[in-house]
Amino acid sequence: MKKILITGGAGFLGAYFANRIKKDYEVHITYNSSEYHQDGIFSHKVNLLNQDELEKAFQKIKPEIVIHCAAKANVDWCEENSHEAFLVNQTSSKIIASLSKDFKSKLVYISTDQVYDGEKKFANELDPNLPVNVYGKSKLAGEIECLNTNQDALIIRTNFYGLGHKMSFFEWAFKALKSKSSMQLYNNVFYTPIFIEDLIDGVMCLIANQKSGIYNVVGTERVSKSQFVFLIAKVFNLSLENAVETSYQNGNKVPRPLEMSLDNKKFLHDINFKISTVEQALNKIKNTGLV
Ligand SMILES: NC(=O)c1ccc[n+]([C@@H]2O[C@H](COP(=O)([O-])OP(=O)(O)OC[C@H]3O[C@@H](n4cnc5c(N)ncnc54)[C@H](OP(=O)(O)O)[C@@H]3O)[C@@H](O)[C@H]2O)c1
Repeated sequence: MKKILITGGAGFLGAYFANRIKKDYEVHITYNSSEYHQDGIFSHKVNLLNQDELEKAFQKIKPEIVIHCAAKANVDWCEENSHEAFLVNQTSSKIIASLSKDFKSKLVYISTDQVYDGEKKFANELDPNLPVNVYGKSKLAGEIECLNTNQDALIIRTNFYGLGHKMSFFEWAFKALKSKSSMQLYNNVFYTPIFIEDLIDGVMCLIANQKSGIYNVVGTERVSKSQFVFLIAKVFNLSLENAVETSYQNGNKVPRPLEMSLDNKKFLHDINFKISTVEQALNKIKNTGLV
């Protein structure tokens, strides 16, 4: 079996990734502060800020593929802790890129739709990158380090949803709707979310097809945050009586791009892949019976 190393394996995406592919790969994950152990997955405690620990992990595992999911991914936290955000999202990505080159591992860097400035609908891979906050800037810096250090790196710009072991926007909205809690939904923040399972399968397909460079791996539908929640309510037959639509005002808050929709044509052109609609994916989640 091929050996695959997933950084941030205790995170929302990393853990989902590891569990989804573990029957076909020898899966190793790294975790840092939150321990994560599952049958069929090898867990290693590695602080990405410690180059020595990272080198030892590569030496021990000798992975053929590295999926670099670990990041400081909280936009507000990054804005207040800019130095550490860049250390994790940029500096450690450079080290991982260099190690993946030395060990001849295929490197996949999970990036974000926040590397664009939010001025254009359906931004494509060639559109300019002018991130508006520290999170976006540090993730873009990580992309650049990966591509400069390892020309074969695959960069995935995405925004995903699903039901994992950590709280996500889907789960927050679902729980609020179910308990009829009041909720404010932004009707001016747009994105193209992809179902987490499609994202993982899409990434594995790009690797199998020996792709490198930048890919927007997102859904095809452009929805606002409020439209996404309306679809949850529809599929799960929940009442929207306590949901209020409002608009996000950048004002005094951390700046966020309001238009985060990305164009996925390059991805769909280069590999033969069918992306679920949001409604289809929500029905898949419903059919698991887990919520
Ligand atoms: N969630 C989204 O909607 C979204 C959207 C677009 C892109 N992304 C990108 O997708 C990737 C995964 O996101 P996610 O939602 O799964 O994030 P997450 O749940 O916050 O997981 C990130 C993981 O990174 C690890 N990490 C942070 N600092 C570390 C360090 N110094 N050493 C080792 N590990 C460290 C954390 O480990 P510990 O907790 O153990 O410290 C955490 O488990 C990220 O690269 C993010 O930028 C996410």
